[in-house]
Amino acid sequence: MSQRVLTTESGAPVADNQNSATAGAGGPLLLQDQHLLEKLARFNRERIPERVVHARGSGAYGHFEVTDDVTEFTYADFLSTVGRRTEVFVRFSTVADSLGGADAVRDPRGFAVKFYTEEGNYDLVGNNTPVFFIKDPIKFPDFIHSQKRDPFTGRQEPDNVWDFWAHSPEATHQVTWLMGDRGIPASYRHMNGYGSHTYQWTNSAGEAFFVKYHFKTNQGIRSLSAEQAAETVGRDANSHQTDLLQAIERGVRPSWTLYVQLMPAAEADGYRFNPFDVTKVWPHQDYPLRRVGRLVLDRNPDNVFAEVEQAAFSPNNFVPGIGPSPDKMLQGRLFAYADAHRYRLGVNHTQLAVNAPKATTARNYGRDGLMASNSQGRAAKNYEPNSYDGPAETGRPLSAPLAVDGHTGTHAAPLHTKDDDFFQAGELYRLMSAEEKSRLIANIAGGLSQVSRDDVIEKNLAHFHAADPEYGRRVEEAVRALRED
Ligand code: HEM
Repeated sequence: MSQRVLTTESGAPVADNQNSATAGAGGPLLLQDQHLLEKLARFNRERIPERVVHARGSGAYGHFEVTDDVTEFTYADFLSTVGRRTEVFVRFSTVADSLGGADAVRDPRGFAVKFYTEEGNYDLVGNNTPVFFIKDPIKFPDFIHSQKRDPFTGRQEPDNVWDFWAHSPEATHQVTWLMGDRGIPASYRHMNGYGSHTYQWTNSAGEAFFVKYHFKTNQGIRSLSAEQAAETVGRDANSHQTDLLQAIERGVRPSWTLYVQLMPAAEADGYRFNPFDVTKVWPHQDYPLRRVGRLVLDRNPDNVFAEVEQAAFSPNNFVPGIGPSPDKMLQGRLFAYADAHRYRLGVNHTQLAVNAPKATTARNYGRDGLMASNSQGRAAKNYEPNSYDGPAETGRPLSAPLAVDGHTGTHAAPLHTKDDDFFQAGELYRLMSAEEKSRLIANIAGGLSQVSRDDVIEKNLAHFHAADPEYGRRVEEAVRALRED
């Protein structure tokens, strides 16, 4: 049969794709019209649950190339040789809105990288911000509820957004970041990416280092003002998707340079603040950036649904030499993502082309389940241990052990001398130019002044005052001026 013949899903030729089969020319439909039934039924099943956060996104393939020797710090195979290239898939996203939202909005951006290494897929699931709003995963569902659409009004509500922040002083640093100039990136190409959390690297001698990842854009940072963003959304709600797609189709190869900050594990306990607190950055004076390699994107996916919508990134996908830190937030994420994938895509999502290992094969005793397509070979046993040379464990630890002590319980007490929630927000404010400060104040006041309750406004103002007295005073004046209008 010619390649141009339209077929049913079972491959049989279709006689008519314009007219349904009916009883007589004007008559009712016939149930025997397989092509019609299949088209309507499949159409009804085209949508799957969207991601509960980061629903809108864009993806591209490319590679990561090691440019600097880091073998002193990790034995991760894909980082072991200068010049080594590893295929990657990257998905960028906005966070709060649903799939039908717009790209050019004030919101953090997701920056998720899947490295298809020879020792399995390594997922680094980060954001374009080096910090986050909260530091305990138990607050995440409440946080996200407050930022997404209200169940009654169906809109994002300033009352909810700011009420949550009023009760979460640890958010002050990230709020300062988000309301500042980098809060609305001009495109996915023109922003940095950060692992945000602290992770752990282990070298071949078994020594542990805590590590933070920074992908610096080689396109330069470009952001939009609130006015430019409103205009952009009106012109093209998919502006980030348009930019990435068209740039790569034109042959532009967007790239990022990867740097890390490394802390010898023994220094963590005595550091002046908790180095596993994702609401804080490590000052570069303490732990300078070291270059590792270059991330380059050069190929658009052929099918957005198959490859971008069905992409599944999990912070728990590590490779030997890289592991988690004790960061509570990170530990919560280690559960949440694969759980979301099993709900959104099914238990066999790892067999989809975008998610399956590319530089090695998955070999284990997990079997069957909905949509299983991987037989693992005729004679492969489905239990272990076995006498048939089936895959077996290596016995080699994947990363150095983490020391723990203390008593079980729900702990909120600070661990380090300077674990307060405000000083880094103040430092970020003081780093800004006079113009940046003015735009920051205007953005915060624009949102906070819409809040209906005075006590919520007062609690938020107290956080900005605690970060920096001038910062607090200026936000307070700007909010009062807008409310008196
Ligand atoms: C997506 C949970 C914090 C970055 C998601 C998804 C869930 C989730 C359930 C949807 C996954 C899917 O359906 O594929 C959580 C929880 C967090 C947390 C429970 C805190 C405890 C963070 C932080 C970052 C982050 C701190 C960045 C440092 C992302 C990114 C995506 C995502 C980039 C989209 C991944 C993709 O492109 O498919 N998160 N998240 N999340 N999250 Fe988080």
